[in-house]
Amino acid sequence: MTKDMENKVALVTGGSSGIGRATAVAFAARGATVVIASRARERGEQVVAEIEAAGGKALWVQTDVSQAAQVAALIQTITDTYGRLDYAFNNGGSGGKGGWIADIQEEDWDATIDGFLKSVWLCMKHEIPLMLKGGGGAIVNNSSVDGLRAFPWDPVYSAAKHGVIGLTKSAALQYATQGIRINAVCPGWIRTPPIEDLLQRDPGADKNLLLHQPIGRFGKPEEVAETVVWLCSDAASLLLGVALPVDGGYTAL
Ligand SMILES: NC(=O)c1ccc[n+]([C@@H]2O[C@H](COP(=O)([O-])OP(=O)(O)OC[C@H]3O[C@@H](n4cnc5c(N)ncnc54)[C@H](OP(=O)(O)O)[C@@H]3O)[C@@H](O)[C@H]2O)c1
Repeated sequence: MTKDMENKVALVTGGSSGIGRATAVAFAARGATVVIASRARERGEQVVAEIEAAGGKALWVQTDVSQAAQVAALIQTITDTYGRLDYAFNNGGSGGKGGWIADIQEEDWDATIDGFLKSVWLCMKHEIPLMLKGGGGAIVNNSSVDGLRAFPWDPVYSAAKHGVIGLTKSAALQYATQGIRINAVCPGWIRTPPIEDLLQRDPGADKNLLLHQPIGRFGKPEEVAETVVWLCSDAASLLLGVALPVDGGYTAL
C-alpha cells in the first residue's frame, strides 16, 4: 500500500462503524492521520486502537454531527491538534422513523433532516475554512442510491439524501477554483451493522433487497471506502460535484 497521504489529516464522521469505519482504516493505510467523530466512546476508541495496532495514527472526538456547537468544537480540536484538514468524509448520521407521508411525525422529520442533511452542511461549514487555510482539500459527502431514486419506505431519508446531493453540487461549484473538490458517493445496499440487524430480524429480507442490486450481493464497506479515498486522492483531481453510485448496478436498473 502506498503511503501517499502521509502528513495529511482526514476526518471521518461516523468512523466508528460500517462504511465510516472502513474508510477510516483505508485513510490510515495510505498514511493519513485520521480523526474519527461519532457519539459512542467505546466503538470510537476501538477503531482508534485498531488503526494504531496496524501502525497508523488516529484520534476519536466525541461529536453529534447534528449539533452545531459540537461540530464547531470538533473542528476546533482538529485545528488545535493538527492545524490542518486535508480530507473529510461526511458520513455519520441517524434519523427518525420512516413510513407513510401522512403518518410521519414532525419530530421524526426534524431528526432525519438534522441527522442526515443539516449535519453535512454543518460539517462543510466548519471544514472548508480550515481547508482553505491549508491551501485546499477534498470533501466526500455520503448520500445514497436513495438520494438518486425514490425510497418509499422512508421518504424523509430519501429527501435528506437528495438534499445531500444538491448541497454537494452547489458547494462544489462555489469552491471549484479555490482548491477544494467536493463530491458525493451514493452507496447501494452495503453489509453494515444496520443491515446485519435487519437480516437478523428478517432472515429472508436479503432476497428482496438484492432484487434491486443487479450484482446479486451486498456491497462491502471496504468497497465504498476505497471509492471515497480515491475521490480524495490526486488521482481524482478533475472530479467535483459528482454524485457517484457505488451500488452494484442498483441505479442502472
Ligand atoms: N449501509 C448501507 O446500505 C447504506 C447505503 C447507503 C447509504 N448509507 C449511508 O452510509 C452512512 C453510514 O451508514 P452505515 O451503514 O455504515 O451505518 P453504521 O454502521 O450504523 O454507522 C453509522 C456511524 O455513524 C455514527 N453516527 C450516527 N449518528 C451520528 C450522529 N448524530 N453524530 C455523529 N455520528 C453519528 C455512528 O456512531 P454513533 O452511533 O456512536 O454516533 C456510526 O459510527 C449513513 O449516512 C447511511 O445513510 C448506508
